[in-house]
Amino acid sequence: MNKISIVGAGNTGATAAHWLAERELANVVLLDVVEGMPQGKGLDLLEAMPIIGKDAKVTGTNDYADTKDSDIVIITAGIARKPGMSRDDLLKTNAEIVGKAATETLKYSPNAIFIVLTNPLDTMAYLVMKKTGLPRSRVIGQAGILDSARMRAFVAMEAGVSVENVQCYVLGGHGDEMVPLTRHSNIAGIPLRDYLPADKLEAIVNRTRKGGGEIVNLLKTGSAYYAPSMACVQMAEAILKDKKLIVPCATHMEGEYGLNDMYFGVPVMLGAGGMEKVIEYQFDESEKAMFEKSAASVKETHEALKSVVAL
Ligand code: NAI
Ligand code: 2OP
Repeated sequence: MNKISIVGAGNTGATAAHWLAERELANVVLLDVVEGMPQGKGLDLLEAMPIIGKDAKVTGTNDYADTKDSDIVIITAGIARKPGMSRDDLLKTNAEIVGKAATETLKYSPNAIFIVLTNPLDTMAYLVMKKTGLPRSRVIGQAGILDSARMRAFVAMEAGVSVENVQCYVLGGHGDEMVPLTRHSNIAGIPLRDYLPADKLEAIVNRTRKGGGEIVNLLKTGSAYYAPSMACVQMAEAILKDKKLIVPCATHMEGEYGLNDMYFGVPVMLGAGGMEKVIEYQFDESEKAMFEKSAASVKETHEALKSVVAL
């Protein structure tokens, strides 16, 4: 069976392990700095397997050596902003955590493909690529699948149709400036703009942009984890099964869409090679403006990273 290591056994990490094991997609190693916690979660998940008849082995550890020979590494480790901490302090702390997670796992799994989840997402994915020196095909950030799934869920609720009939594409950075593309989104092939009234569609776009914050406000003690971890699992499955799945992910821009030297959310093809191809959409003027605004915001965070961490 394939092997996936997840660094950070908190809400998103442990839930990703749950979905992966339940689908028997891989043996899973959960790694965290907290002693006992990943071991406990791993053992608990392992003990669930006989009930559902799955043979995935889930283990927990504090030792990077146990991640040896992973096919995929998912990085979710990080801390949330604490009172008195500036955004730059948070950026520095998470950059140190994510940088170490990437370089340590790479030592034991030189052929692994990295999926990054830790926020600020686009910038942490950029950091992993820079710290590991890997080609962009092997470092992919998760954001667009989640943001698009949120929009799909809201559209399906509003239209009263199955989520399976709804395709939505949210590109750009994983922040309030993200780019929900209503013109490219549809219900059973019918453009969203022809199916839903303009005011409803605008409300859905706004709710999508603030989707992460909506969950934080409800949970109060943390952020979303079911949908984010499922998004990582979809990426891992596409890679392990060489599906050639086209989904929005954060990737290193190398001239596409006129962008360079930054991670940004665009449609990509996922297969055995990781991020195998960037797909380029044709934008109209208003889409172009949204895209550029989002890119400027992500660039700013990349610059902030460079001012607190040596790359
Ligand atoms: P969490 O706080 O539940 O889990 C984070 C885990 O990282 C904790 O268990 C902590 O002990 C661990 N950790 C901290 N330092 C570590 C280190 N040096 N080595 C190994 N593990 C370490 O947080 P949650 O909900 O799992 O979120 C994780 C990250 O993912 C956050 O940065 C969050 O903002 C981000 N996120 C990103 C999403 C996206 O779409 N890109 C969606 C949801 C969350
Ligand atoms: C989200 O969008 C917190 O980035 C996370 O839910």
